[in-house]
Amino acid sequence: MIKIAVMGYGTIGSGVVQVIETNQDSICRKIGEGIEVKYILDLRNFEGDPIQSRVVHDYKTIAEDPDVAIVVESMGGIEPAYTFVKAMLEAGKSVTTSNKALVAAHGADLIATAKHKNVNFMFEASVGGGIPIIRALNSCLTADRIEEISGIVNGTTNYMMTKMAEEGCDFEEVLKEAQEKGYAEKDPTADIEGHDAGRKIAILTSLIAGQQVDFEDVYTEGISSITATDILYAKKMDRVIKLLATSRQVADTYTVMVAPFLLPKEHPLYTVNGVFNAVFVRGNMLGDAMFYGSGAGSLPTASAVVADVVELAKHIGKHIELEWRPEKLEIADYRQQSTRFFVRTNAEKPEIERIFDTVQYIDVPEAAGEIGFVTSEMKEEDYEKKAAQLGSVIQMIRFH
Ligand code: HSE
Repeated sequence: MIKIAVMGYGTIGSGVVQVIETNQDSICRKIGEGIEVKYILDLRNFEGDPIQSRVVHDYKTIAEDPDVAIVVESMGGIEPAYTFVKAMLEAGKSVTTSNKALVAAHGADLIATAKHKNVNFMFEASVGGGIPIIRALNSCLTADRIEEISGIVNGTTNYMMTKMAEEGCDFEEVLKEAQEKGYAEKDPTADIEGHDAGRKIAILTSLIAGQQVDFEDVYTEGISSITATDILYAKKMDRVIKLLATSRQVADTYTVMVAPFLLPKEHPLYTVNGVFNAVFVRGNMLGDAMFYGSGAGSLPTASAVVADVVELAKHIGKHIELEWRPEKLEIADYRQQSTRFFVRTNAEKPEIERIFDTVQYIDVPEAAGEIGFVTSEMKEEDYEKKAAQLGSVIQMIRFH
């Protein structure tokens, strides 16, 4: 019988217990023996709840119990999650976490600790919720050099962008609705300003590069400046605006960025709507692949956590090699990346053409008193210089 502990009985922790109880038989068959949740660590007592007898308040109860082989961390945040997870690994227990903040900040260190103690640290649910993207990168796509990862990895903002595109409403209106429905947090900053997506792309890039990418180095723009007028222009261009987290190989490093992009109809991410997530991967041998599914929510996320538990149970006493060295990767300057830029301005056409040379004008009758145009392909730093010369830029959104 494999004994596990769950640290944090919130949305994900309770989902983990539910997944294990609902699919007990098939999970046990896959592991080859029984599985039991011995402890649940939480500040609360859960009086009258069937889990009450398993609730403990001191993480050392778990760390010091040799019966426990696997620990699930679903508390969120960096501390005390880091201290607890480190203690579990040091005590010879394998750990799986859904906590992207913890993985982005301490992934390399926790993997090294796991290796040192001959156990494993897994984090499938930390990016893309229920979508199996981490295992795909670590196990299935290891024959490839990954040239690009572009993902819709934040369900809240994708829901908002989809609503704005479908209903033509403005950002503030759709944010209020998302908050009322419980999709957006009361303080939505981490989602709408792209910080959540930034942590996720930092984790994915660390895995494909094999070394630490600091999320603080990821150039990040959110969606809070996107308006109903931008959506009208996007429709006119047969494109949609999506908040993308992208990582592109440049020589032996990557350009990593989170920003709203204008996607053409042919792009596989064009049709990813609502709270769904999807990650597009381009490998030098594989070509293109896409992973699509529920990126958040109790049971989808718990499903990924329990899949890690099964994997951990199958590898007790055997460390699975995972390259994520602690040395920081110097990511490429995003200003050297080239693309086309969609621009809205109050400037006049002669001035636009003098500065940007050949442009394609986009006519949206509802946007009176301004001009929308698309530049030719140019480096980000050249665009910045030209935009400064133009002076009156209302909006800029990159093509993808
Ligand atoms: N706030 C995140 C999202 C939750 O909206 O995708 C999952 O990481």
